[in-house]
Amino acid sequence: MAYIIDGKKISKEIKDELKEKVAVFKAQGKAACLAVIQVGEDPASSVYVNNKKKACEYIGIDSLSVQFPPNVTEAELLGKIEELNRDEKVNGILVQLPLPKHIDEDKVIKTIMPEKDVDGFHPQSVGALSIGQKGFVSCTPAGVIELLERSGIEIEGKECVVMGRSNIVGKPMAMLLLRENGTVTITHSKTANIKEITKRADILVVAVGKPKMVDSSYVKEGAVVIDVGIHRDQNNKLCGDVDYADVEPHVQAITPVPGGVGPMTIAMLMKNCVSSME
Ligand code: GUN
Repeated sequence: MAYIIDGKKISKEIKDELKEKVAVFKAQGKAACLAVIQVGEDPASSVYVNNKKKACEYIGIDSLSVQFPPNVTEAELLGKIEELNRDEKVNGILVQLPLPKHIDEDKVIKTIMPEKDVDGFHPQSVGALSIGQKGFVSCTPAGVIELLERSGIEIEGKECVVMGRSNIVGKPMAMLLLRENGTVTITHSKTANIKEITKRADILVVAVGKPKMVDSSYVKEGAVVIDVGIHRDQNNKLCGDVDYADVEPHVQAITPVPGGVGPMTIAMLMKNCVSSME
């Protein structure tokens, strides 16, 4: 039986630690505020945005909601970000992605000042991570590192394979595993002989965005498997990028979906907000 890495429990521990920290700050008269901008009313985005606001409330961080209609102009959105950049009460700014096609996402990300970039998406934050300097780290990959550390899984010296090369997960994930002294390989849709590579992994992080793509033929016996995906299957049940039922009997440890990586993303966002305040 694999050890099931309980992201729900670990994220709760982190949020409780942050809550204590924020209470100490509050006693000193300091407050934290996260501005959350949503464009349009995509139902999935609304769920994420609401969960972020709820987490803020739990920890004691103020949240400032900015809701734009889907036809908001790019200039209007950038103007709002600039206003929030200048607002001293606001410690963190988050623009929920994806954005409508007429808005340049890169421009939006670059407009958020790096000191308030709690998503860790700004090129300066990404660059800082790759050269080992201080800066905000993308929340999902940061959450994966916390899951491994708090489950007593050592990264140093391990063969780590990251499946997927997105800017938000795959690339920063590889950088973080490297920072922890793992030996890191990234695979992607054009990788030849992919299973030969993934089967070398002591730690396999799967962020391919394809439901149940990774079955046991991709995985070494006794590996640790982290599933970043979240989808609905044919029966409308949540599932990940990993075929959990097929893989679980072969591995040392695995994250479930739901209740694995998902809750960690918000916990790490809250952690970034608290460090922004510090
Ligand atoms: N959309 C999906 N995931 C994320 C995230 O982590 N941050 C933002 N801003 N948008 C997202």
